[in-house]
Amino acid sequence: MNILVTGGTGYIGSHTCVALIAANHDVIIADNLSNSKIETVDRIERITGKRALFYKIDVTDAASVRSLFSSHSIDGVIHFAGLKAISESTRIPLEYYFNNVVSTIVVAGACLEYGVDRFVFSSSATVYGDNEVPFVETMELLSVTNPYGETKVMSEKILTDIAVTNSAWSVALLRYFNPIGAHESGLIGELPGGVPDNLMPYITQVAKGKLDKLRVFGGDYPTVDGTGVRDYIHVMDLAKGHIAALEKLPEGVHVFNLGTGQGTSVLELVQAFEKANNLKIPYEIVERRPGDIAKSYADTKKAGIELGWKAERSILDMCRDAWRFEKSY
Ligand code: NAD
Ligand code: UD1
Repeated sequence: MNILVTGGTGYIGSHTCVALIAANHDVIIADNLSNSKIETVDRIERITGKRALFYKIDVTDAASVRSLFSSHSIDGVIHFAGLKAISESTRIPLEYYFNNVVSTIVVAGACLEYGVDRFVFSSSATVYGDNEVPFVETMELLSVTNPYGETKVMSEKILTDIAVTNSAWSVALLRYFNPIGAHESGLIGELPGGVPDNLMPYITQVAKGKLDKLRVFGGDYPTVDGTGVRDYIHVMDLAKGHIAALEKLPEGVHVFNLGTGQGTSVLELVQAFEKANNLKIPYEIVERRPGDIAKSYADTKKAGIELGWKAERSILDMCRDAWRFEKSY
């Protein structure tokens, strides 16, 4: 298939481009490079031996998106493009609503106009709110406490409503848990700007000596050791989940959790990182971070049964690959 990947030079997008090319699909990337680098296109080529087409386009701009659809025969779209930092979304909510919701409307609109009926959307486990674990796709979504999460809930709703009136449409709403790690080559990985908000990039920057120690947000949660529990998934496993969704998706709207189903605490992840890489990560336990929940992990049965997909890589693999990328970049 000829697949349009919006946000394809970003963290998850670039790994998914590698997986798409490996599965013999042709890739067209549309990205405005607001949070990624053009050299990623070369790196994808170095890994796969095949060059993706690249367009520097803002996908909130309907004219540019239409022009792209009119000049290529596109079979499916994976829509990654978006802003993703929760704390930033509370400071500049309008930019988040505009970028994330309008891009979904514009890209979905172009699909309808040009008869493209496969749409895969990057949603997030954050839409579950503070629900009972494990999170199951059928759960009622509890209130989300930040504009970023709202943009995911809104985009899911918009795509669901469109699919109801367009019976040929196949839409996958993929709720990612916590992607970490990097491609085994060490050529592509996560490139956060400034001080990272997320745990793994923070750990790798402490390991590199860019940051002095990890601050563990909260040691009094009702978890195995008092620190927050998350479902970390290797980004290449997550990437493969997109291929399964594209290739196996029946008509209609389908929600899938993409996680491992295993919860890991902050301190367990630190220990795994130390073991995998033979390093010490200094840390201190500080106050809880506002908006954090104690536990988040997936019920992964649906993706296993309906997509035939399952995450395969271990926490140690994730730690090794994340560090390989950080130290070589
Ligand atoms: P990323 O920032 O690395 O990638 C997003 C890409 O989209 C970047 O390359 C950026 O330049 C591009 N972009 C942003 N706005 C654009 C626009 N208007 N037009 C064109 N390009 C635009 O983020 P990521 O971690 O790869 O996340 C990809 C998607 O997955 C996002 O929608 C994010 O919300 C979602 N998601 C990410 C996580 C995570 O932990 N990384 C978890 C759940 C969901
Ligand atoms: C955050 C977002 C979530 C998003 C996900 C992936 C919040 C509230 N949630 O989730 O919506 O889908 O990122 O982008 O921001 N931690 C530390 N010290 C740090 C960083 C994190 O102790 O410096 C802890 C957190 O408290 C949490 C765990 O590590 O328990 C994971 O944090 P993080 O990587 O930010 O992911 P989430 O909080 O799950």
